[in-house]
Amino acid sequence: MEQPTLDVADLTVRFGGVLALDGVSLKVEANEIHGIIGPNGAGKTTLFNAVCGFLRPARGTIRYRGKALLGTAPHQLARLGIARTLQSLGLWPGLTVLENLLVGSRVRPNFFASLLAMPRADRLEWRLREQATQVLDELGIVSVADAHPAALPYGLQKRVILARALMAEPELLLLDEPASGLSAGEIDRLAELVGRLRRRMSVVVVEHHVDLVMAISQRIHVLNFGHVIASGTPPEIRGNREVSTAYLGEDVKTAEGGTGA
Ligand SMILES: Nc1ncnc2c1ncn2[C@@H]1O[C@H](COP(=O)(O)OP(=O)(O)OP(=O)(O)O)[C@@H](O)[C@H]1O
Ligand SMILES: [Mg+2]
Repeated sequence: MEQPTLDVADLTVRFGGVLALDGVSLKVEANEIHGIIGPNGAGKTTLFNAVCGFLRPARGTIRYRGKALLGTAPHQLARLGIARTLQSLGLWPGLTVLENLLVGSRVRPNFFASLLAMPRADRLEWRLREQATQVLDELGIVSVADAHPAALPYGLQKRVILARALMAEPELLLLDEPASGLSAGEIDRLAELVGRLRRRMSVVVVEHHVDLVMAISQRIHVLNFGHVIASGTPPEIRGNREVSTAYLGEDVKTAEGGTGA
């Protein structure tokens, strides 16, 4: 059996008196899109922060492709193949879109091998620019490479965020509310993009937009007050009484006619 890409077990995080996560366990398999849903304050972002080493859990383990991840510093994540987008945009306003992609991009080890014959440092810069252009093209935004992010519509800025995360060529991509603020058409496009990414990575999507999560995820975990209250396939989550009464309510019914399953 292949190792899960991400294996979180009994994760518990406290902020003073607040138990933000209480014994959360979940596995994300290779090439899986895994949805995390739950109301505000459920602990979704805290889960990402723990995986990324931004906080120290009180208890539990986090394994990435079979290796313990706790104690890994956030700046080491890109090298391991983990990339994340933040709930807020976090683009550098003074840089162009392309320059934003170059900041913090990771150079693959095999790439160094190919560079051995090339003496000049600007080859590296050239290669990274080429990669950034490819990523922008994949996301359909290569035409705005030289624009400043603040001049772009919000939906395009969100795509730049995704592009920047893809520069690391991650094997695990963590998306925190990628659909927030997007129009219905943009959400459809996002679903299609993330669906394609699955061929080369695992994706964990934290989202309030339940229809989107139902449509793109193979499996879903539902958090409430730091607890996993349900997990399973989209149809299983739709049919879960605790989820529908405790949290999703009418959303579950509207999702049924959607693009899921
Ligand atoms: N740095 C922090 N210091 C203190 N409390 C925090 C901190 N971060 C999160 N919390 C608390 O932990 C709980 C979980 O928060 P978290 O941000 O993970 O929720 P969330 O599910 O991402 O919510 P949202 O959908 O609103 O983004 C909340 O009660 C929150 O107030
Ligand atoms: Mg959050």
